[in-house]
Amino acid sequence: MAIEEQFAGDEKMMSAEAEKSATAYENELRPKDFSSYIGQTQVKENLMLFTRAARDRGDTLDHSLLYGPPGIGKTTLCLILAEEMGAQMRQTSGPAMEKPGDLAAILTNLNEGDFLFIDEIHRLRTQVEEVLYTAMEDFAIDLVVGKGPSARTMRLAVPRFTLLGATTMASRLSNPLRDRFGHVARLRYYEPDEIQQILLRSAKILGVEIAPDAAAHLARCSRRTPRIANRLVRRMRDFAQMAGENTITEAVVADGLNRLHIDPRGLDWSDQQYLKTLCETFNGGAVGLSTIAAALGEDEATIEDMIEPFLIREGFLQKTPRGRVATDAAWQHAGVTPPARQNTLM
Ligand code: ADE
Repeated sequence: MAIEEQFAGDEKMMSAEAEKSATAYENELRPKDFSSYIGQTQVKENLMLFTRAARDRGDTLDHSLLYGPPGIGKTTLCLILAEEMGAQMRQTSGPAMEKPGDLAAILTNLNEGDFLFIDEIHRLRTQVEEVLYTAMEDFAIDLVVGKGPSARTMRLAVPRFTLLGATTMASRLSNPLRDRFGHVARLRYYEPDEIQQILLRSAKILGVEIAPDAAAHLARCSRRTPRIANRLVRRMRDFAQMAGENTITEAVVADGLNRLHIDPRGLDWSDQQYLKTLCETFNGGAVGLSTIAAALGEDEATIEDMIEPFLIREGFLQKTPRGRVATDAAWQHAGVTPPARQNTLM
């Protein structure tokens, strides 16, 4: 599996409604400028330089592609880029555009210097993607007018715009599309101390105190992902409030994470069940995907896309040609003695 494809499962699936409201909540905590954006230092410095250079020349920013795991700040960075360039940003997503006309309508309604942000750009349909080629390169689109033998193409100019693409799966982009970006930036998972800084900043915006040890604890359980950290700090605010506390203390975090079934490494209930089943029921494997899916009562795609990538990344799971195998770290984490060690004890 390509590394970007492993990103895909790092967030549990959300319904469209849940996703929408999550975004509304997220907006409140999004940094609005480079100086309040924590982490991704190299990417940020390059983007700062490119925006300033373009601005000084009175030019537009080149089309840019941001890729990396979900919840890591791609949209936030794009909003900051637009702000820095003083540009309006029109947002859409790959799957939202069903036919070439949908994209053509968006492009022809842009103003000179606008940004067009396409999230999940790897999910663009081929015919829609083809409209982007000339738009990105020549700021024009080719429309087919008429039908049958009398059909002809007509070139229509579109305003000079900057395309910002975001994807969790850069490898799924076709080469012609990827090659048309002037800059490609990879965003990475955050370090725990960066997540801790994000948590402290978010708590401040939310108007709640958080003790340093509580922030450090929460940071370790946030899967190195700001979106998860921000979700957790909101829930901890609720727990603190209902306990009559005005500070998120270490005790609030310990109890809150317990209530949410999140363990000290950030594994949630389904991750924990997976490891427990793999170790206890299948002696640590090797076990096939269909078998473990049946044992957990989950479908294979959910296991493969939503649960396993994080366990692999954390070093708990190996995918081998024989099947899934629990690592030593998994046995230790599940608190189960591996069979070999049981033998030596006897
Ligand atoms: N909230 C989400 N992502 C963030 C980041 N990178 N820095 C600060 N706050 C954030």
